[in-house]
Amino acid sequence: MTKGNSKLIETVGVIGAGQMGCGIAQVCMVAGFDVVLTDANEKALKVSRELIERDLARQVSRNKMSDESMDEALNRITTAVGLDSHKGCDLIIEAVCENESVKKDVFAELDSFVSTDAIVTSNTSSISITGLASSISHPERVIGLHFMNPVPVMPLIEVIRGLATSDGTFAEIERFVEKLGKSLVVSQDYPGFIVNRLLMPMLNEACYALYEGVGTIEAIDRGMKLGTNHPMGPFELADMIGLDTCYSIMQVLHKGLNGSKYQPCPLLLNYVEAGWLGRKTGRGFYDYSGEKPTPTR
Ligand code: CAA
Repeated sequence: MTKGNSKLIETVGVIGAGQMGCGIAQVCMVAGFDVVLTDANEKALKVSRELIERDLARQVSRNKMSDESMDEALNRITTAVGLDSHKGCDLIIEAVCENESVKKDVFAELDSFVSTDAIVTSNTSSISITGLASSISHPERVIGLHFMNPVPVMPLIEVIRGLATSDGTFAEIERFVEKLGKSLVVSQDYPGFIVNRLLMPMLNEACYALYEGVGTIEAIDRGMKLGTNHPMGPFELADMIGLDTCYSIMQVLHKGLNGSKYQPCPLLLNYVEAGWLGRKTGRGFYDYSGEKPTPTR
């Protein structure tokens, strides 16, 4: 269907069934879009579907959604393993891991079949949209669409215009964000954009404070929650985001902004190297195996 000279977004493709891709798929389904969710790993797709079903069922049990709306939303998602399942999508949201070469490979593959009037976006939290768009033959249709975690709860989407992004693409994305019931802020295309330019150095500084013995994990988290009204302490938040993601974003900031203040903390690297990546692996700055998270240092 077309509207003016631009296509109306009806079908959204989400690439990557990790915590961000899963949340993005969920909010799109609930907002009435047909969703195609793909991942290289069949098991990740199954887990995503179960998580979405569980979260929607919880909303029904709290009278925040009707049974009928939940069923309608669940009927709007299809899952598949291959990227070519996104052929008919009007909007594609790439949400694979925070690694530039992996993302560029995905964009290059999409370029071989995606329709020239489809909008291709990345949920990258720090990597240059202009750089990613260079892997695709219609860079004016490429834009950054950075959702916040947990996606169903957080009201913000950061929108990043690449150098070549057209006004038409931006206008379609503004309508899409509004239909999702979210608010947007526009960021220029520089490392970390707005949110992570500010947030990640704060989380990294918490790691330095721990590394240097300024306070314990619990003291630092408690200090920031009770002292500055943050809903979560920096270590709780870093564990939720994923320590590998935090580390990758700090590397992008350090490389792109070239200042020692962006040097990732060696302790953060230790956790990443240990595979203690936060909630998703059951252990990060906290251990999540018991009834209550307990600090790991
Ligand atoms: N998925 C879906 N819903 C979730 C959820 C999740 N992962 N986590 C919490 N919720 C829901 C809860 O079910 C609850 O819903 P109801 O009101 O319907 O009961 C609601 O959110 C509030 O949750 P809780 O009462 O359990 O806990 P809370 O009040 O402490 O809120 C929180 C939890 C929303 C996560 C809050 O602690 C918070 O806002 N934390 C900060 C999150 C944040 O900063 N996110 C941005 C991270 S940066 C980012 O994402 C960018 C990046 O690139 C790294």
